[in-house]
Amino acid sequence: MGIWSKKSITALRAEAASSEGGLKRTLGALNLTMLGIGAIIGAGIFVLTGTAAANFAGPGVSLSFVLAGLACLFAGLCYAEFASMIPIAGSAYTYSYATMGEGVAWFIGWNLVLEYLFAAATVAVGWSGYFSAMLDTVGIHVPAAFASAPLTVENGHQVVRAFTCVNTNTGGVLADAATKIAFATREACTAAGGNAVDGLINLPAILLILALTMLLVRGVQESATFNNIIVAIKMVIVLLVIGFGFMYVNTDNWHPFIPEMVTNSDGSTKYGMSGVLRAAPVVFFSYIGFDAVSTAAQEAKNPQRDLPIGMIASLLICTVLYILMSLVMTGLAPFQSLGVAHPVSAALEAVPQLKWLENLVNIGAVAGLSSVVLVMLMGQPRIFYTMSRDGLLPKIFAKVHPKYQTPAASTWIVGLIAIVIAGFFPLGLLGELVSGGTLAAFATVCIGVLVLRKRSPELERPFRTPWVPLVPIMGAGATLYMMYQLPKLTWTLLGVWTAIGMTVYFVYGMGNSKIGKQDKASGAK
Ligand code: ALA
Repeated sequence: MGIWSKKSITALRAEAASSEGGLKRTLGALNLTMLGIGAIIGAGIFVLTGTAAANFAGPGVSLSFVLAGLACLFAGLCYAEFASMIPIAGSAYTYSYATMGEGVAWFIGWNLVLEYLFAAATVAVGWSGYFSAMLDTVGIHVPAAFASAPLTVENGHQVVRAFTCVNTNTGGVLADAATKIAFATREACTAAGGNAVDGLINLPAILLILALTMLLVRGVQESATFNNIIVAIKMVIVLLVIGFGFMYVNTDNWHPFIPEMVTNSDGSTKYGMSGVLRAAPVVFFSYIGFDAVSTAAQEAKNPQRDLPIGMIASLLICTVLYILMSLVMTGLAPFQSLGVAHPVSAALEAVPQLKWLENLVNIGAVAGLSSVVLVMLMGQPRIFYTMSRDGLLPKIFAKVHPKYQTPAASTWIVGLIAIVIAGFFPLGLLGELVSGGTLAAFATVCIGVLVLRKRSPELERPFRTPWVPLVPIMGAGATLYMMYQLPKLTWTLLGVWTAIGMTVYFVYGMGNSKIGKQDKASGAK
Protein backbone atom coordinates (compact mmCIF):
# COMPACT_ATOMS: atom_id res chain seq x y z
CA MET A 1 0.00 0.00 0.00
CA GLY A 2 1.01 3.66 -0.51
CA ILE A 3 4.69 4.09 -0.10
CA TRP A 4 5.37 0.39 -0.83
CA SER A 5 3.05 0.10 -3.89
CA LYS A 6 4.83 -1.26 -6.94
CA LYS A 7 4.04 -0.85 -10.62
CA SER A 8 3.60 -4.13 -12.45
CA ILE A 9 6.14 -4.84 -15.15
CA THR A 10 3.37 -6.01 -17.47
CA ALA A 11 1.55 -2.67 -17.11
CA LEU A 12 4.80 -0.79 -17.67
CA ARG A 13 5.55 -2.77 -20.81
CA ALA A 14 2.10 -2.06 -22.18
CA GLU A 15 2.67 1.62 -21.45
CA ALA A 16 6.02 1.53 -23.24
CA ALA A 17 4.54 -0.20 -26.27
CA SER A 18 1.61 2.19 -26.66
CA SER A 19 2.51 5.32 -28.57
CA GLU A 20 -0.92 6.92 -28.45
CA GLY A 21 -0.65 10.64 -27.67
CA GLY A 22 2.95 10.02 -26.70
CA LEU A 23 6.43 11.03 -27.74
CA LYS A 24 7.79 10.61 -31.25
CA ARG A 25 10.04 7.61 -31.91
CA THR A 26 12.93 8.75 -34.10
CA LEU A 27 16.21 7.78 -32.44
CA GLY A 28 18.44 4.87 -33.49
CA ALA A 29 21.51 3.27 -31.86
CA LEU A 30 23.98 5.81 -33.28
CA ASN A 31 21.98 8.83 -32.12
CA LEU A 32 21.59 7.28 -28.66
CA THR A 33 25.33 6.58 -28.38
CA MET A 34 26.08 10.14 -29.45
CA LEU A 35 23.61 11.45 -26.83
CA GLY A 36 25.50 9.40 -24.23
CA ILE A 37 28.87 10.82 -25.30
CA GLY A 38 27.25 14.27 -25.48
CA ALA A 39 26.28 14.02 -21.83
CA ILE A 40 29.50 12.41 -20.59
CA ILE A 41 32.46 14.42 -21.95
CA GLY A 42 32.36 17.85 -20.34
CA ALA A 43 33.46 19.75 -17.27
CA GLY A 44 34.84 16.59 -15.69
CA ILE A 45 37.65 15.95 -18.14
CA PHE A 46 38.26 19.60 -19.06
CA VAL A 47 38.44 20.85 -15.46
CA LEU A 48 38.47 18.20 -12.73
CA THR A 49 41.28 15.95 -14.05
CA GLY A 50 43.88 18.57 -13.16
CA THR A 51 42.64 19.14 -9.62
CA ALA A 52 42.27 15.41 -9.00
CA ALA A 53 45.88 14.81 -10.12
CA ALA A 54 47.41 17.78 -8.29
CA ASN A 55 45.45 17.44 -5.04
CA PHE A 56 45.01 13.69 -4.65
CA ALA A 57 46.46 11.13 -7.03
CA GLY A 58 49.36 12.46 -9.13
CA PRO A 59 49.74 10.58 -12.47
CA GLY A 60 47.80 7.79 -10.70
CA VAL A 61 44.68 9.80 -11.59
CA SER A 62 44.51 7.52 -14.67
CA LEU A 63 43.88 4.64 -12.24
CA SER A 64 41.16 6.71 -10.57
CA PHE A 65 39.55 6.99 -14.01
CA VAL A 66 39.82 3.21 -14.40
CA LEU A 67 38.16 2.65 -11.00
CA ALA A 68 35.35 5.18 -11.50
CA GLY A 69 34.87 3.86 -15.05
CA LEU A 70 34.54 0.28 -13.80
CA ALA A 71 31.97 1.33 -11.20
CA CYS A 72 29.99 3.08 -13.92
CA LEU A 73 30.32 0.11 -16.24
CA PHE A 74 28.85 -2.22 -13.59
CA ALA A 75 26.02 0.27 -13.00
CA GLY A 76 25.62 0.73 -16.77
CA LEU A 77 25.19 -3.02 -17.29
CA CYS A 78 22.43 -2.99 -14.66
CA TYR A 79 20.77 0.05 -16.28
CA ALA A 80 20.92 -1.78 -19.61
CA GLU A 81 18.95 -4.75 -18.25
CA PHE A 82 16.20 -2.51 -16.93
CA ALA A 83 16.16 -0.21 -19.94
CA SER A 84 15.69 -3.17 -22.28
CA MET A 85 13.01 -4.67 -20.06
CA ILE A 86 11.10 -1.49 -19.15
CA PRO A 87 11.81 1.10 -21.88
CA ILE A 88 10.06 4.00 -20.11
CA ALA A 89 11.39 7.58 -20.00
CA GLY A 90 11.45 7.60 -16.18
CA SER A 91 14.79 5.70 -16.09
CA ALA A 92 15.96 4.82 -12.55
CA TYR A 93 12.75 6.29 -11.12
CA THR A 94 10.61 3.80 -13.07
CA TYR A 95 12.95 0.87 -12.37
CA SER A 96 12.66 1.57 -8.62
CA TYR A 97 8.87 1.88 -8.91
CA ALA A 98 8.77 -1.63 -10.37
CA THR A 99 11.11 -3.15 -7.82
CA MET A 100 11.14 -1.28 -4.52
CA GLY A 101 7.90 0.66 -4.42
CA GLU A 102 6.60 4.19 -4.76
CA GLY A 103 8.49 5.72 -1.80
CA VAL A 104 11.90 4.61 -3.06
CA ALA A 105 10.90 5.59 -6.61
CA TRP A 106 10.03 9.09 -5.46
CA PHE A 107 13.30 9.32 -3.51
CA ILE A 108 15.26 8.32 -6.64
CA GLY A 109 13.20 10.62 -8.90
CA TRP A 110 13.99 13.46 -6.51
CA ASN A 111 17.70 12.54 -6.60
CA LEU A 112 17.66 12.55 -10.39
CA VAL A 113 16.74 16.24 -10.19
CA LEU A 114 20.17 16.71 -8.66
CA GLU A 115 21.74 14.70 -11.45
CA TYR A 116 19.99 16.35 -14.39
CA LEU A 117 18.59 19.76 -13.49
CA PHE A 118 21.36 20.82 -11.13
CA ALA A 119 24.06 19.37 -13.38
CA ALA A 120 22.63 21.34 -16.32
CA ALA A 121 22.83 24.56 -14.29
CA THR A 122 26.32 23.81 -12.90
CA VAL A 123 27.79 22.89 -16.28
CA ALA A 124 26.10 25.92 -17.90
CA VAL A 125 27.98 28.13 -15.44
CA GLY A 126 31.24 26.31 -16.30
CA TRP A 127 30.42 26.82 -19.98
CA SER A 128 29.84 30.53 -19.38
CA GLY A 129 33.35 30.85 -17.90
CA TYR A 130 34.98 29.09 -20.86
CA PHE A 131 32.85 30.99 -23.37
CA SER A 132 33.61 34.42 -21.87
CA ALA A 133 37.32 33.53 -21.77
CA MET A 134 37.18 32.55 -25.44
CA LEU A 135 35.47 35.82 -26.36
CA ASP A 136 38.12 37.65 -24.32
CA THR A 137 40.86 36.23 -26.52
CA VAL A 138 39.26 37.84 -29.57
CA GLY A 139 38.78 41.16 -27.79
CA ILE A 140 35.05 40.83 -27.01
CA HIS A 141 34.42 41.32 -23.30
CA VAL A 142 31.18 40.26 -21.62
CA PRO A 143 30.51 43.12 -19.13
CA ALA A 144 31.64 41.77 -15.75
CA ALA A 145 28.30 42.44 -14.01
CA PHE A 146 26.61 40.14 -16.55
CA ALA A 147 29.20 37.38 -16.38
CA SER A 148 28.47 35.96 -12.94
CA ALA A 149 25.67 35.34 -10.46
CA PRO A 150 25.33 37.84 -7.57
CA LEU A 151 26.43 35.28 -4.98
CA THR A 152 29.15 32.67 -4.68
CA VAL A 153 30.46 30.15 -2.16
CA GLU A 154 33.74 30.79 -0.38
CA ASN A 155 35.80 28.30 1.68
CA GLY A 156 33.40 25.55 0.69
CA HIS A 157 30.45 26.83 2.72
CA GLN A 158 30.27 30.65 3.12
CA VAL A 159 27.88 32.40 0.74
CA VAL A 160 29.30 35.81 -0.21
CA ARG A 161 28.78 38.52 -2.86
CA ALA A 162 30.39 37.42 -6.15
CA PHE A 163 32.72 39.59 -8.18
CA THR A 164 34.74 39.41 -11.37
CA CYS A 165 38.27 40.77 -11.40
CA VAL A 166 38.55 43.02 -14.45
CA ASN A 167 41.77 44.08 -16.16
CA THR A 168 41.50 47.89 -16.06
CA ASN A 169 43.46 48.27 -19.30
CA THR A 170 41.79 45.73 -21.54
CA GLY A 171 38.36 45.33 -19.91
CA GLY A 172 38.89 41.57 -19.97
CA VAL A 173 38.95 39.16 -17.03
CA LEU A 174 42.08 39.29 -14.89
CA ALA A 175 43.06 35.96 -13.32
CA ASP A 176 46.11 34.84 -11.39
CA ALA A 177 48.92 34.74 -13.95
CA ALA A 178 50.32 31.40 -12.77
CA THR A 179 47.20 29.32 -12.14
CA LYS A 180 44.68 31.15 -14.38
CA ILE A 181 42.27 30.66 -11.49
CA ALA A 182 40.11 33.71 -10.74
CA PHE A 183 41.24 35.74 -7.73
CA ALA A 184 39.51 34.49 -4.60
CA THR A 185 39.50 37.82 -2.73
CA ARG A 186 38.90 41.42 -3.71
CA GLU A 187 42.18 42.37 -2.00
CA ALA A 188 44.15 39.97 -4.21
CA CYS A 189 42.39 41.37 -7.28
CA THR A 190 43.16 44.99 -6.37
CA ALA A 191 46.75 44.10 -5.43
CA ALA A 192 47.20 42.70 -8.95
CA GLY A 193 45.97 46.02 -10.39
CA GLY A 194 42.47 44.77 -11.24
CA ASN A 195 39.03 46.17 -10.54
CA ALA A 196 36.58 43.94 -8.61
CA VAL A 197 33.15 44.32 -10.25
CA ASP A 198 30.09 42.87 -8.47
CA GLY A 199 28.18 40.19 -10.36
CA LEU A 200 24.47 40.70 -11.11
CA ILE A 201 23.47 37.87 -13.40
CA ASN A 202 25.17 35.15 -15.42
CA LEU A 203 23.85 36.12 -18.82
CA PRO A 204 25.82 33.71 -21.05
CA ALA A 205 24.63 30.75 -18.95
CA ILE A 206 21.03 31.97 -19.17
CA LEU A 207 21.19 32.44 -22.94
CA LEU A 208 22.69 28.99 -23.43
CA ILE A 209 19.94 27.29 -21.41
CA LEU A 210 17.27 29.33 -23.19
CA ALA A 211 18.56 28.41 -26.65
CA LEU A 212 18.89 24.71 -25.78
CA THR A 213 15.41 24.63 -24.21
CA MET A 214 13.92 26.09 -27.39
CA LEU A 215 15.72 23.46 -29.44
CA LEU A 216 14.52 20.64 -27.19
CA VAL A 217 10.92 21.82 -27.42
CA ARG A 218 11.22 21.90 -31.21
CA GLY A 219 12.03 18.21 -31.47
CA VAL A 220 14.15 15.41 -30.11
CA GLN A 221 15.45 14.50 -33.58
CA GLU A 222 16.52 18.11 -34.20
CA SER A 223 18.22 18.16 -30.81
CA ALA A 224 19.95 14.85 -31.54
CA THR A 225 21.25 16.15 -34.88
CA PHE A 226 22.63 19.27 -33.20
CA ASN A 227 24.17 17.06 -30.51
CA ASN A 228 25.80 14.83 -33.16
CA ILE A 229 27.60 17.82 -34.68
CA ILE A 230 28.85 19.06 -31.32
CA VAL A 231 29.94 15.60 -30.22
CA ALA A 232 31.86 15.11 -33.47
CA ILE A 233 33.71 18.41 -32.85
CA LYS A 234 34.62 17.60 -29.27
CA MET A 235 35.69 14.03 -30.08
CA VAL A 236 37.99 15.18 -32.88
CA ILE A 237 39.60 17.70 -30.54
CA VAL A 238 40.03 15.18 -27.73
CA LEU A 239 41.56 12.71 -30.21
CA LEU A 240 43.94 15.40 -31.52
CA VAL A 241 45.11 16.13 -27.98
CA ILE A 242 45.61 12.44 -27.31
CA GLY A 243 47.29 11.69 -30.67
CA PHE A 244 49.69 14.64 -30.77
CA GLY A 245 50.08 14.69 -27.00
CA PHE A 246 51.45 11.14 -26.88
CA MET A 247 54.22 12.14 -29.32
CA TYR A 248 55.61 14.61 -26.77
CA VAL A 249 55.05 12.77 -23.51
CA ASN A 250 58.03 12.99 -21.17
CA THR A 251 57.90 9.68 -19.34
CA ASP A 252 59.87 11.20 -16.43
CA ASN A 253 56.62 12.94 -15.51
CA TRP A 254 55.04 9.53 -14.86
CA HIS A 255 57.72 8.53 -12.34
CA PRO A 256 56.68 7.74 -9.72
CA PHE A 257 53.27 6.91 -11.16
CA ILE A 258 51.73 6.91 -7.69
CA PRO A 259 53.81 9.38 -5.65
CA GLU A 260 54.46 8.62 -2.01
CA MET A 261 51.81 9.69 0.44
CA VAL A 262 52.32 13.11 2.04
CA THR A 263 50.41 14.86 4.83
CA ASN A 264 48.87 18.27 4.11
CA SER A 265 49.03 21.14 6.62
CA ASP A 266 45.42 20.44 7.70
CA GLY A 267 46.24 16.82 8.56
CA SER A 268 44.63 15.33 5.43
CA THR A 269 46.79 13.26 3.06
CA LYS A 270 47.40 13.10 -0.67
CA TYR A 271 48.99 10.65 -3.16
CA GLY A 272 49.61 6.98 -2.47
CA MET A 273 46.95 4.38 -3.20
CA SER A 274 44.60 6.21 -0.82
CA GLY A 275 44.95 9.32 -3.00
CA VAL A 276 44.00 7.27 -6.07
CA LEU A 277 40.90 6.04 -4.22
CA ARG A 278 40.04 9.54 -2.99
CA ALA A 279 40.26 10.91 -6.55
CA ALA A 280 37.84 8.29 -7.92
CA PRO A 281 34.67 10.01 -6.60
CA VAL A 282 36.04 13.34 -7.87
CA VAL A 283 36.51 12.09 -11.42
CA PHE A 284 33.23 10.16 -11.18
CA PHE A 285 31.56 13.43 -12.20
CA SER A 286 33.17 13.02 -15.65
CA TYR A 287 31.17 9.85 -16.27
CA ILE A 288 27.77 11.18 -15.24
CA GLY A 289 25.32 11.30 -18.10
CA PHE A 290 25.42 7.91 -19.88
CA ASP A 291 22.20 7.00 -18.06
CA ALA A 292 20.46 10.00 -19.66
CA VAL A 293 20.24 7.78 -22.73
CA SER A 294 17.60 5.72 -20.91
CA THR A 295 15.33 8.78 -20.57
CA ALA A 296 14.97 8.74 -24.37
CA ALA A 297 13.38 5.26 -24.11
CA GLN A 298 10.04 6.37 -25.52
CA GLU A 299 11.67 8.17 -28.41
CA ALA A 300 13.90 5.28 -29.48
CA LYS A 301 12.88 3.31 -32.56
CA ASN A 302 14.01 0.00 -31.12
CA PRO A 303 14.57 0.70 -27.40
CA GLN A 304 15.05 -2.87 -26.26
CA ARG A 305 18.07 -3.32 -28.49
CA ASP A 306 19.37 0.23 -28.84
CA LEU A 307 19.23 1.60 -25.28
CA PRO A 308 21.76 -0.95 -23.96
CA ILE A 309 23.97 -0.26 -27.01
CA GLY A 310 23.74 3.52 -26.50
CA MET A 311 24.63 3.39 -22.82
CA ILE A 312 27.37 0.78 -22.88
CA ALA A 313 29.01 2.01 -26.10
CA SER A 314 29.14 5.65 -24.96
CA LEU A 315 30.51 4.61 -21.59
CA LEU A 316 33.23 2.38 -23.06
CA ILE A 317 34.32 4.97 -25.62
CA CYS A 318 34.54 7.70 -22.98
CA THR A 319 36.36 5.47 -20.47
CA VAL A 320 39.10 4.75 -23.02
CA LEU A 321 39.33 8.43 -24.00
CA TYR A 322 39.52 9.54 -20.36
CA ILE A 323 42.28 7.10 -19.45
CA LEU A 324 44.33 8.14 -22.50
CA MET A 325 43.65 11.83 -21.94
CA SER A 326 44.73 11.70 -18.28
CA LEU A 327 47.90 9.79 -19.26
CA VAL A 328 48.71 12.45 -21.85
CA MET A 329 48.06 15.35 -19.48
CA THR A 330 50.21 13.95 -16.67
CA GLY A 331 52.84 12.91 -19.23
CA LEU A 332 53.17 16.35 -20.82
CA ALA A 333 53.55 18.39 -17.64
CA PRO A 334 54.45 17.70 -14.01
CA PHE A 335 51.15 16.84 -12.33
CA GLN A 336 51.70 19.55 -9.68
CA SER A 337 51.20 22.17 -12.39
CA LEU A 338 47.75 20.86 -13.37
CA GLY A 339 45.77 22.13 -10.38
CA VAL A 340 44.54 25.13 -12.41
CA ALA A 341 41.32 26.33 -14.00
CA HIS A 342 42.15 25.00 -17.49
CA PRO A 343 44.38 21.96 -16.93
CA VAL A 344 44.35 20.70 -20.52
CA SER A 345 45.78 24.02 -21.71
CA ALA A 346 48.27 23.96 -18.83
CA ALA A 347 49.49 20.53 -19.96
CA LEU A 348 49.83 21.69 -23.57
CA GLU A 349 51.68 24.85 -22.52
CA ALA A 350 54.53 22.70 -21.21
CA VAL A 351 55.38 21.70 -24.82
CA PRO A 352 55.90 24.62 -27.24
CA GLN A 353 55.20 22.38 -30.27
CA LEU A 354 51.65 21.82 -28.98
CA LYS A 355 50.69 25.46 -28.50
CA TRP A 356 48.54 25.37 -31.64
CA LEU A 357 46.18 22.96 -29.90
CA GLU A 358 45.28 25.36 -27.08
CA ASN A 359 42.62 27.33 -28.95
CA LEU A 360 41.14 24.11 -30.25
CA VAL A 361 40.91 22.81 -26.68
CA ASN A 362 38.89 25.90 -25.73
CA ILE A 363 36.56 25.24 -28.64
CA GLY A 364 36.33 21.59 -27.57
CA ALA A 365 35.44 22.62 -24.03
CA VAL A 366 32.78 25.11 -25.14
CA ALA A 367 31.28 22.50 -27.48
CA GLY A 368 31.64 19.72 -24.91
CA LEU A 369 30.02 21.55 -22.06
CA SER A 370 27.11 22.74 -24.19
CA SER A 371 26.15 19.20 -25.23
CA VAL A 372 26.25 18.12 -21.58
CA VAL A 373 23.76 20.88 -20.76
CA LEU A 374 21.63 19.87 -23.76
CA VAL A 375 21.33 16.20 -22.80
CA MET A 376 20.75 16.97 -19.11
CA LEU A 377 17.97 19.40 -20.11
CA MET A 378 16.57 16.60 -22.26
CA GLY A 379 16.62 13.98 -19.49
CA GLN A 380 14.95 15.92 -16.69
CA PRO A 381 11.63 16.78 -18.39
CA ARG A 382 11.24 13.14 -19.47
CA ILE A 383 11.56 11.95 -15.88
CA PHE A 384 9.02 14.55 -14.77
CA TYR A 385 6.82 13.45 -17.70
CA THR A 386 6.79 9.89 -16.39
CA MET A 387 6.27 10.96 -12.76
CA SER A 388 3.35 13.10 -13.83
CA ARG A 389 1.76 10.24 -15.79
CA ASP A 390 2.01 8.22 -12.57
CA GLY A 391 0.14 11.01 -10.73
CA LEU A 392 3.11 11.97 -8.57
CA LEU A 393 3.51 15.38 -10.19
CA PRO A 394 0.88 17.79 -11.60
CA LYS A 395 -0.61 16.89 -14.99
CA ILE A 396 1.07 19.78 -16.82
CA PHE A 397 4.38 17.87 -16.81
CA ALA A 398 2.85 15.13 -18.97
CA LYS A 399 1.58 17.48 -21.69
CA VAL A 400 2.93 16.59 -25.12
CA HIS A 401 3.26 19.30 -27.78
CA PRO A 402 0.63 18.50 -30.45
CA LYS A 403 2.94 19.27 -33.34
CA TYR A 404 6.48 18.56 -32.12
CA GLN A 405 5.52 15.55 -29.96
CA THR A 406 7.93 16.59 -27.21
CA PRO A 407 7.14 17.06 -23.49
CA ALA A 408 7.08 20.80 -24.19
CA ALA A 409 5.55 22.15 -20.96
CA SER A 410 7.87 20.05 -18.81
CA THR A 411 10.86 21.12 -20.93
CA TRP A 412 9.99 24.81 -20.46
CA ILE A 413 9.48 24.44 -16.71
CA VAL A 414 12.83 22.66 -16.34
CA GLY A 415 14.56 25.22 -18.58
CA LEU A 416 13.18 28.15 -16.61
CA ILE A 417 14.20 26.66 -13.25
CA ALA A 418 17.69 25.94 -14.63
CA ILE A 419 17.88 29.55 -15.85
CA VAL A 420 17.09 30.90 -12.39
CA ILE A 421 19.59 28.58 -10.70
CA ALA A 422 22.41 29.19 -13.20
CA GLY A 423 21.77 32.91 -13.56
CA PHE A 424 21.44 33.93 -9.94
CA PHE A 425 22.58 31.28 -7.45
CA PRO A 426 25.97 30.29 -6.09
CA LEU A 427 26.88 26.92 -7.53
CA GLY A 428 30.17 26.22 -5.76
CA LEU A 429 28.58 23.51 -3.65
CA LEU A 430 26.69 21.70 -6.34
CA GLY A 431 29.30 19.56 -8.13
CA GLU A 432 29.50 17.00 -5.34
CA LEU A 433 25.77 17.20 -4.69
CA VAL A 434 25.21 16.21 -8.34
CA SER A 435 27.56 13.25 -7.85
CA GLY A 436 25.80 12.29 -4.60
CA GLY A 437 22.34 12.20 -6.20
CA THR A 438 23.63 10.24 -9.17
CA LEU A 439 25.48 7.69 -7.02
CA ALA A 440 22.30 7.06 -5.02
CA ALA A 441 20.40 6.38 -8.25
CA PHE A 442 23.15 4.06 -9.57
CA ALA A 443 23.28 2.03 -6.35
CA THR A 444 19.49 1.62 -6.35
CA VAL A 445 19.46 0.40 -9.96
CA CYS A 446 22.17 -2.20 -9.16
CA ILE A 447 20.22 -3.45 -6.14
CA GLY A 448 17.03 -3.41 -8.22
CA VAL A 449 18.50 -5.91 -10.69
CA LEU A 450 19.17 -8.35 -7.84
CA VAL A 451 15.68 -7.85 -6.40
CA LEU A 452 13.90 -8.44 -9.70
CA ARG A 453 16.03 -11.42 -10.72
CA LYS A 454 14.98 -13.05 -7.44
CA ARG A 455 11.34 -12.00 -7.51
CA SER A 456 10.53 -12.45 -11.18
CA PRO A 457 13.19 -14.65 -12.77
CA GLU A 458 10.77 -15.63 -15.55
CA LEU A 459 10.45 -12.14 -17.07
CA GLU A 460 11.85 -11.69 -20.55
CA ARG A 461 15.07 -9.68 -20.44
CA PRO A 462 16.23 -8.66 -23.94
CA PHE A 463 19.53 -7.60 -22.36
CA ARG A 464 20.80 -9.53 -19.33
CA THR A 465 23.42 -8.09 -16.99
CA PRO A 466 26.31 -10.58 -17.14
CA TRP A 467 27.70 -12.36 -14.06
CA VAL A 468 24.78 -11.73 -11.74
CA PRO A 469 25.04 -11.36 -8.74
CA LEU A 470 28.71 -10.31 -9.02
CA VAL A 471 28.27 -7.30 -11.33
CA PRO A 472 25.31 -5.71 -9.46
CA ILE A 473 26.99 -6.32 -6.09
CA MET A 474 30.25 -4.73 -7.31
CA GLY A 475 28.28 -1.86 -8.88
CA ALA A 476 26.31 -1.17 -5.70
CA GLY A 477 29.41 -1.61 -3.51
CA ALA A 478 31.54 0.73 -5.60
CA THR A 479 28.90 3.45 -5.88
CA LEU A 480 28.08 3.29 -2.16
CA TYR A 481 31.80 3.45 -1.36
CA MET A 482 32.16 6.58 -3.49
CA MET A 483 29.12 8.10 -1.76
CA TYR A 484 30.74 7.37 1.58
CA GLN A 485 33.79 9.37 0.44
CA LEU A 486 31.77 12.53 -0.16
CA PRO A 487 32.42 15.40 2.27
CA LYS A 488 30.21 15.86 5.32
CA LEU A 489 28.69 19.07 3.99
CA THR A 490 27.49 17.26 0.85
CA TRP A 491 25.83 14.64 3.06
CA THR A 492 24.09 17.37 5.05
CA LEU A 493 22.83 18.99 1.84
CA LEU A 494 21.70 15.59 0.54
CA GLY A 495 19.79 15.10 3.80
CA VAL A 496 18.09 18.49 3.48
CA TRP A 497 17.24 17.80 -0.17
CA THR A 498 15.74 14.41 0.74
CA ALA A 499 13.71 15.92 3.60
CA ILE A 500 12.21 18.52 1.23
CA GLY A 501 11.48 15.78 -1.33
CA MET A 502 9.77 13.46 1.11
CA THR A 503 7.62 16.36 2.41
CA VAL A 504 6.47 17.07 -1.16
CA TYR A 505 5.70 13.37 -1.57
CA PHE A 506 3.60 13.12 1.57
CA VAL A 507 1.79 16.41 0.91
CA TYR A 508 1.14 15.91 -2.82
CA GLY A 509 2.42 12.70 -4.41
CA MET A 510 1.02 10.08 -2.10
CA GLY A 511 -2.57 11.36 -2.31
CA ASN A 512 -2.49 11.83 -6.10
CA SER A 513 -0.64 8.67 -7.05
CA LYS A 514 -2.54 6.68 -9.68
CA ILE A 515 -1.51 3.38 -8.14
CA GLY A 516 -2.44 4.67 -4.68
CA LYS A 517 -5.91 5.57 -5.98
CA GLN A 518 -6.30 2.18 -7.66
CA ASP A 519 -5.24 0.43 -4.44
CA LYS A 520 -7.79 2.47 -2.49
CA ALA A 521 -10.56 1.73 -4.97
CA SER A 522 -9.90 -2.01 -4.97
CA GLY A 523 -9.64 -1.99 -1.16
CA ALA A 524 -12.99 -0.20 -0.90
CA LYS A 525 -14.79 -2.78 -3.02
N1 ALA B 1 29.91 14.17 -17.23
C1 ALA B 1 29.51 15.51 -17.33
C2 ALA B 1 30.66 16.45 -17.27
O1 ALA B 1 31.77 16.03 -17.03
C3 ALA B 1 28.48 15.86 -16.30
O2 ALA B 1 30.47 17.62 -17.49
